[in-house]
Amino acid sequence: MWAGRTAGALSREADDFNSSIHFDSKMYKQDITGSMQHATMLAACGIITRDESETIISALDEILSDIESGKLEIAQDAEDIHMFVEAELTKRIGDTGKKLHTARSRNDQVALDIRMYLRDETREILHLLCELIEAVTSQAKANRNTIMPGYTHLQRAQPVTFAQHMMAYAMMFIRDTGRLKDAVARMNYSPLGSCALAGTTYPIDRLMTAKALGFDGITLNSMDGVSDRDFCVELLAAYSLIMTHLSRFSEEIILWSSWEFKFIELDDAYTTGSSIMPQKKNSDMAELVRGKTGRVYGDLITLLTLLKGLPLAYNKDMQEDKEAVFDALETVEKCLRVFAPMIKTMRVNSGNMYAAAQKGFINATDLADYLVRKGLPFRTAYKIVGQIVSECIKCGEVLDSMKIDDYKKYSELFDDDLYDAISLQTCVAKRISEGGTGYESVDKQINFVTEFLNNEKNIY
Ligand code: ARG
Repeated sequence: MWAGRTAGALSREADDFNSSIHFDSKMYKQDITGSMQHATMLAACGIITRDESETIISALDEILSDIESGKLEIAQDAEDIHMFVEAELTKRIGDTGKKLHTARSRNDQVALDIRMYLRDETREILHLLCELIEAVTSQAKANRNTIMPGYTHLQRAQPVTFAQHMMAYAMMFIRDTGRLKDAVARMNYSPLGSCALAGTTYPIDRLMTAKALGFDGITLNSMDGVSDRDFCVELLAAYSLIMTHLSRFSEEIILWSSWEFKFIELDDAYTTGSSIMPQKKNSDMAELVRGKTGRVYGDLITLLTLLKGLPLAYNKDMQEDKEAVFDALETVEKCLRVFAPMIKTMRVNSGNMYAAAQKGFINATDLADYLVRKGLPFRTAYKIVGQIVSECIKCGEVLDSMKIDDYKKYSELFDDDLYDAISLQTCVAKRISEGGTGYESVDKQINFVTEFLNNEKNIY
């Protein structure tokens, strides 16, 4: 379609190499919608006639429904989706179709299409994130009283509830939704009308197309409008963090499912067996999510590297943005689709969690706090409890089983009430500080997240 300047045909290899149709055909809907509004605007500004505009729009409408019904196949030998739609239009309505590209370039067209595509898809990711937050919260609600060891350095540290552990993930995923919304808010300015790089001599109305296409405004510099891909980087960075969170969660799911922990059991629908070892129930989905995280990070790096040396404005290098962006998007989407129901259906083995919490001296901090309440400075209390733990380990006791007389050898401040003070239930219930694992604090978190989800439902 751009033949004119060059007389010779492109070699077959170069033609294939140059073509992006096999990945950018995904954006057919955004491309056609953008073109329809462009045609409307051209007529409104007197650049083409109303008749011409109407002919173009109804033909574009038909092309869209023909693609969607499968009647029209997107030709894989086209250069890209923009060229394909325009060629099909011209095939259908002749010379009038050739007027669509007035006051436009593929450079602003592709910048428009990818923004619209990412905006639509990000809405879907937000929706999926909310389903995951909902799944995590339902586990929290069901396990309000489930006590487990909380870990630091993967060593048993202090008792927490499984609800508190689940709500930690809810907070991460809520931040993820915020990051996506921030990125979309910055992205949602229309570049259409930037044309090739310098704007146009036609009296176009950029705000008109921007509004009609759901943008909050227009990009203010035409060279930036066609060459900016910051929004792709921002979104991929946000996707990368979603994957980081999913990957950490996956790691815990995998550990918790092991025979060594046996804290949870995944539903059969989300596990696989081994082809040789009959006893196995593997958490393949979680492992795949953890593995696919590397892919999304790679996509982000691809994009950053792609952009770092590019002079203004458009360069063909930028065609390479799409595969990375689409791959990241699809990966995150697929991961979220399997993750939310996997979490929702997992069974929690509260008995094993409790048993693990009883070992490992995870109430040692509370024993020190007990002495502090009786008047000792914390560091002194800390030292005494350290010595007691050491003795317990030597004689195979735990803090709960050591006799009061033995305690008194370390401090006269110890009394019978210490056993209640260091029971796991007390340890949890007494953690009343904001955000702590205390029951009320967790309820507050659950309420906060429930409200968040209700608000989101009103938006999407
Ligand atoms: N397929 C191209 C892309 O994705 C469209 C823009 C082509 N513009 C150009 N001047 N060759 O970037």
